Amino acid sequence: MPENEPAPEPHPEPDAAPASVPERAPAAAPAAQPPAQASAPSPAQPPVPAPTDWSAFQYEIYLNGMTGTVPRLPTDLTRLEEVAAARLGPGPVGYVAGSAGDGKTARANREALDRWRIVPRMLRDVARRDLSVELFGSRLPAPLALAPVGVLSIMHPDAEPGAAQAAAARGVPFILSSASSTPMEQVAEAMGEGAERWFQLYWGRDRDVTESFLDRAAKSGYSALVVTLDTRLLAWRPRDLDQAYLPFLRGVGTANYFTDPAFRAGLAKPVHEDLNAAVLHFVSLFNHPGTTWEDLAFLRERWRGPILLKGIQHPDDARRAADAGMDGVVVSNHGGRQVNGAIGAADALEPVVDAVGGRLEVLFDSGVRTGDNVFKAIALGARAVLLGRPYAYGLGLDGQAGVDHVIRCLLAEFDLTLALAGYKGPGELGREALSRG
Ligand SMILES: Cc1cc2nc3c(=O)[nH]c(=O)nc-3n(C[C@H](O)[C@H](O)[C@H](O)COP(=O)(O)O)c2cc1C
Repeated sequence: MPENEPAPEPHPEPDAAPASVPERAPAAAPAAQPPAQASAPSPAQPPVPAPTDWSAFQYEIYLNGMTGTVPRLPTDLTRLEEVAAARLGPGPVGYVAGSAGDGKTARANREALDRWRIVPRMLRDVARRDLSVELFGSRLPAPLALAPVGVLSIMHPDAEPGAAQAAAARGVPFILSSASSTPMEQVAEAMGEGAERWFQLYWGRDRDVTESFLDRAAKSGYSALVVTLDTRLLAWRPRDLDQAYLPFLRGVGTANYFTDPAFRAGLAKPVHEDLNAAVLHFVSLFNHPGTTWEDLAFLRERWRGPILLKGIQHPDDARRAADAGMDGVVVSNHGGRQVNGAIGAADALEPVVDAVGGRLEVLFDSGVRTGDNVFKAIALGARAVLLGRPYAYGLGLDGQAGVDHVIRCLLAEFDLTLALAGYKGPGELGREALSRG
C-alpha cells in the first residue's frame, strides 16, 4: 500500500549557472568504439557489443535545458534522501533511510569510502572508454547491479517490476529480494527473456519453502543466487520502531511466500481467508539464527548456478565461503541496517579481496552513492558494486523513470571520474589509483 504522493513535482532547483553549450549533441557524440577484441571477431564467437557512452547523459541533460527542461530529480544522488523525505510518507522513507541503532554503521560506510582519495593521472589517452566487466560468464555494460531491496511497493506502485525494467533497459542486473512485494515470476516476466536477474534468498527455517524458492527462481530465469547472511534476525531499528512501522505485518513484502505452494501447505486456511495467520507463519519462518557454515551444502547441492554470500565482512568468513564452494561474496553490512557500531563496509573490502580475490568474485555494497564511490570500490578490488537506497528513492520519487535516472547519473559520473582520473575502464583500476586521505 503506497503511502507516498504519486506525482512528484519536477526537481525545482535548476543550476543557476548557465549551462555551457555542448560542443556535441549526444547523437553526434563520437561513436563508441568496440573494444580491441571485437576488431577481428572469430566466426565462432558472437560479436562483442559496442560499449555504452555513459558520459553522454550530461550532454542530453544540457541539451534538454535549451528547451527549458531540467532533470526531475537531483543529479547529485546524495540529495535523494532529503528530497524523498520532503515528498514521501514518513513510514516508507523511515524504512528505507533508517539504519540499526543510532546509525553509526551507516555513517561509517560513507566515511570509509570518503577516507580514500583518487589520485588523478594526466595525459593518458582516455578517448575510448569501456566500462563493461565480465561476471559469471556474462558481459555487463558496467560494474553495477541493483541490490536486493525488499517491499518496493511502499515506495511506488511501479514497485519491483518498475525497478527491474529500468535495470533491464540499461543491461544492469537486477537482484530480486525474497521480501519482494511482487512474486518472482511476475518480475521475471516484466524484465523479459535474456535480461540479467539474480535471486536473493532469505534463508528461512523451512527447507521445503527454501527448495521451492530455488526451484521457482531457476525456472524463472534467475541466474545467480545471493544468500544474505546478515539478517537472520531483524536488528533494532529505531526509525521503524518509533513509528511501529513494519510492512510485512500487513502482508506487504510477502508476495513470494504467499504465492508459494510449500509455504501455503503450512497454512490451515488460504491466505485471503486468514491474512493474520499467514503473516504469523511468515514471521515464524523468517528468523533463523541457527544456520551455520555446514548448512551451505544444502544450498550448493540444490542450486546449479553461481552462489554469492552477502554480508561478508571478515577475511576468514570469505575464506570459508570459498572453501564451501561458493562463487562469490558481497562485502556488505546491509547499509548499516543490521549491526550498529560495525566497521564501514569499504574498510572490510581490501582484507577480503586479499584473502579470496583469486578464488571467487568479490562484490561490494553499503554506502555507494556517487561515481567516485564506484571508482574506489573497484580500485580496492571489487569486481562490481550493488546500488541500494539511491534507486529506492528514485523509484519513490518518479517510479521506473526515477530508477533509470539514478542508474544513468551514477554511471555517467563514474565514467567521467574514470576519464578525468586517466583510466579507460574498470579493468585498469588498482590500489595505486587511490591514496589514504
Ligand atoms: C529498504 C531496504 C530494504 C532492503 N532489503 C533487503 C533485502 O530484502 N535483502 C537483502 O539482501 N538486502 C536488503 N537490503 C540491503 C541492500 O541489499 C544493500 O545491502 C544496502 O542497501 C546497501 O546499503 P546502501 O543502500 O546504504 O548503499 C535492503 C536495504 C534497504 C535500504
